[in-house]
Amino acid sequence: MIDDRITDEDIPLLINETDLGENSIVLLDLVKSRGKGNVFVELGVDPGISSRIFLHNAIKQNNYVHGFDVTDCSRHAVLNHPCYDFWQLDSIKGAAAWYALRKADIVFVDSLHVKEHVLLEIEAWWPRIKLGGYMIFHDTHWKGYVHRAYHDTPGQKPGSSHNGYDSYGGIDWETPDKAVLEIFRIPALNYSDKFIEVVNYPNHMGMTMVKKLEDTIYPVPNRDVVVARQKHLINSIPWIGGE
Ligand SMILES: C[S@@+](CC[C@H](N)C(=O)[O-])C[C@H]1O[C@@H](n2cnc3c(N)ncnc32)[C@H](O)[C@@H]1O
Repeated sequence: MIDDRITDEDIPLLINETDLGENSIVLLDLVKSRGKGNVFVELGVDPGISSRIFLHNAIKQNNYVHGFDVTDCSRHAVLNHPCYDFWQLDSIKGAAAWYALRKADIVFVDSLHVKEHVLLEIEAWWPRIKLGGYMIFHDTHWKGYVHRAYHDTPGQKPGSSHNGYDSYGGIDWETPDKAVLEIFRIPALNYSDKFIEVVNYPNHMGMTMVKKLEDTIYPVPNRDVVVARQKHLINSIPWIGGE
């Protein structure tokens, strides 16, 4: 019998030795509050921390998790959980490949931490979220953050530039928080109207939750430019499939 619960003993490790930090507890509390029969989707799986949180008590609660990552994550034990499906697939293409009629309770976004990529993830996945469900963005507060002792690059700022942003293909890219502000056309990461409720947790590397209250469409601003830049981004990263 698998015991998939996260216990009080696991909490210090989640807070002190993962990229989610204190926000892992916010996420865990949300998972617990959702009760039974949930469908969770995570974009970006390796090393499996968010997978573990979404799988909390999954067998008993009849919850199911679908994880998308471009890299092979099969070495992580969480993927063997009976309520977990791993899709080795790009996070944007994944929305079209996923079951046509299925909708998710939560889509957790933690793949490429670049505005243009996140804009297209929102475009692809927002229609696939149930009313009352959430799209949750990790890494929405890199400014001023330095990696802690457990990390591969302790004391350095996040991002491939080690300067608080990703730098690929000759471009210093803007971060995921900018995508959330732009596509939902909101002035700040704490906001609500009749369509969405947005709550920001600035601690650690930052996490922003967008709750869907009513269905509406959020077009990507300057879509053609965004698509061209995201293509350049992907082509610039060899481990994702670029040159
Ligand atoms: C920060 S890690 C994910 C951490 C994970 N959510 C956790 O909590 O343990 C980012 C992951 O996104 C994956 N990734 C990068 N670009 C991607 C893309 N276009 N589609 C899907 N996954 C991608 C990387 O391979 C990497 O494993």
